[in-house]
Amino acid sequence: MHCITGFPKSFLLSFVLCLLIGTAIAQETSFGRISQSDSMKIEALLKQMTVDEKSGQLSMFASDWGVTGPTQNSAYKKFIRDGKAGAILNANTVDSVKSLQRVAVEESRLKIPLLFGFDVIHGYRTVFPIPLGQAASWDLDAIEKAEQVAAMEASAEGINWTFAPMVDIARDPRWGRVSEGAGEDTWLGCQIAKARVRGFQGKGFADGRHILACAKHFAAYGAPVAGRDYNVVDISPLSLYEYYLPTYEACVNAGVATVMTSFNEINGIPSTSNHWLLTDILRRDWGFTGFVVTDYTAINELLSHGVAADLKSAAELALNAGVDMDMMGGAFLEHIPGLLKDNKVSLSAIDESVRRILRLKIQLGLFDDPYRYCNKQREQTEIMTKESLDFARKLVSESCVLLKNNNHTLPVPSTVKTLAVIGPLANAREEMQGNWSAAGEAKKCVTLLDGIRNKCGGSVRVVYRKGCNINDNELSGIDSAVQLARQADYVILALGESGEMTGEAASKSNLDLPGVQNQLAEAVIKAGKPAAVVLFNGRPLTISGLNEIAPAILEAWFGGTQAGNGIADVLFGDVNPSGKITMSFPRNTGQIPVFYNSKNTGRPVRPDEPDEKYVSRYLDCPNTPLYPFGYGLSYTNFRYSGITTVVSGNTITVTSDVTNTGDRDGEEIVQLYIQDKVGSITRPLKELKGFKKLLIRKGKTIKVSFTLTSRDLSFYHPDLKKYWEPGEFNAFVGGNSEEVISASFKL
Ligand code: GLC
Repeated sequence: MHCITGFPKSFLLSFVLCLLIGTAIAQETSFGRISQSDSMKIEALLKQMTVDEKSGQLSMFASDWGVTGPTQNSAYKKFIRDGKAGAILNANTVDSVKSLQRVAVEESRLKIPLLFGFDVIHGYRTVFPIPLGQAASWDLDAIEKAEQVAAMEASAEGINWTFAPMVDIARDPRWGRVSEGAGEDTWLGCQIAKARVRGFQGKGFADGRHILACAKHFAAYGAPVAGRDYNVVDISPLSLYEYYLPTYEACVNAGVATVMTSFNEINGIPSTSNHWLLTDILRRDWGFTGFVVTDYTAINELLSHGVAADLKSAAELALNAGVDMDMMGGAFLEHIPGLLKDNKVSLSAIDESVRRILRLKIQLGLFDDPYRYCNKQREQTEIMTKESLDFARKLVSESCVLLKNNNHTLPVPSTVKTLAVIGPLANAREEMQGNWSAAGEAKKCVTLLDGIRNKCGGSVRVVYRKGCNINDNELSGIDSAVQLARQADYVILALGESGEMTGEAASKSNLDLPGVQNQLAEAVIKAGKPAAVVLFNGRPLTISGLNEIAPAILEAWFGGTQAGNGIADVLFGDVNPSGKITMSFPRNTGQIPVFYNSKNTGRPVRPDEPDEKYVSRYLDCPNTPLYPFGYGLSYTNFRYSGITTVVSGNTITVTSDVTNTGDRDGEEIVQLYIQDKVGSITRPLKELKGFKKLLIRKGKTIKVSFTLTSRDLSFYHPDLKKYWEPGEFNAFVGGNSEEVISASFKL
């Protein structure tokens, strides 16, 4: 090493070393880059940190403002003062966050600012439809915008990290958390996952109105045996790669800052102690450089899983698997010092975990200004603005799915003079937000009855009866509801689940409408007046009976703050419904899992032999769901014709005409599916490969084209390599996964 004159060799060496580390580290960031000087700042801080302080940076504790799981440790303020907490969850509002941040940056030894995490799942104070509802809009721009609004509102109240998007693919509606995701299809799930990460994180955090996102729950949490939350996931590596991992990878490719481990095991190894998942796949294969946080006390739960005999071993497993931060478990704080002493974990690994967390705190600007997310003025001016509420109302309407509409029952005719609104969800303000409603306030929600009254004003007499409760056996209210229906010109029945019947720890073995709601519906519809059902639910329900008797059914999910207004816009025809379900509705629970991208089997049902015995079918139920993936009606109709496929090299162009044959303009979600007819492994009958949501004027025809390349036809093989195979393919275009027109092509 040649000495540059004037400097002792030792200083030069350390400076060059810092420079090299700084440069090397400057490459390693999850979102953009941090400067060399910032990298060196991190190195300097690391050098000062005690092992306890490092363990603290890797630990998150809940404030006592709210708990989303079993509380392990409420002495969090002492941890902050002692420099033993890196992040706090469930603390919000400027005053609360500021008071805790002040302890960290003014009273602790090294004054390292805290991250403040919160479950901003479908809105913060302006609550949007649940994610399964938003997915039904297929409007990626709107979904992204909803997260932008959520990030703006959350960051105005001190939050700089959300535990979202939840991107777990799920085919089993018994699992209550389907409400938080985008449904059963991987390709659509990836598009929505990317839109949600973009919404939260924007193009960076410089504006102070974007926050860290968190891809969860890694991985395959949506595939529990029997649809029971937290249950075992037993799945082939091939299915894992083909159907369940891509949405998390899509988040990583979109630059997601953090990833959360899931509670479940995968094939015998819990995600939280799964090195193959957290290090080989997430970091080596996908190049993720953010940090990995566990779900709530998931490290402690390794004892229940039976892979660790005590908390120290659990902490060792989690750290060595690739976990960076312990949510609420206290395991890292308590056991990292001992694990280091026993050489069970390496200091270099601990330091790298600390670096990942400090880098994101720097990128959030927290070292420059720890209070940058504590802006009282923003808290007063950027929350629940008229623009945000108007947008929420529009998204409610776009998320609604018209499942049935015999004889144009909907929209409500303008001739109606007396409108009866009946059902346990009609005036249920407490239920409109659904689960995971963040800082939303039920009292600020618009109920369906509110929305209808707002819409009708004084021109229609609106009368209301609850009729029955959501989930008990009380029948006494049905008669008066029937009487009310008899006096009305038109009836709207508001039925469904309570908001807490889906979400975490909300699996159900029976998906029928709860309580005596079916009896209410039957009695009221028997009154013989035109009637439309509005469904409030967080999962596909088994409503075959209701579907038989109801003239019209509108799926409204849990629409959030503007639920009633957005639904009323659809009911009265101001908005033509365009939503399409992204999760199949089974005919009964016995059919589950039923999903569109199923395989043919060696003994498929032959349409021309519906009663053939020795084929793959049930004796008591068709194989098809009640409503298939991609299904949703409009107040107009669309006809598909003239599909063609043109192959040029490795590019395929599929074109179809779509005609609005009705008497009003409407948006149609035109879907493209592909079938690989012969492969080295069996292939699904259909795979969604594209969609376009188009406004088609009444009477007009639009030529819709999709362009795919051979890369879009690739799939995972038993060796877990992904590639396409030449051969014959079918292309399908249609308004849902069952009603399609097709053409073949060869590649
Ligand atoms: C919960 C959920 C997770 C959430 C976390 C923090 O247990 O599984 O989705 O983000 O705890 O509230």
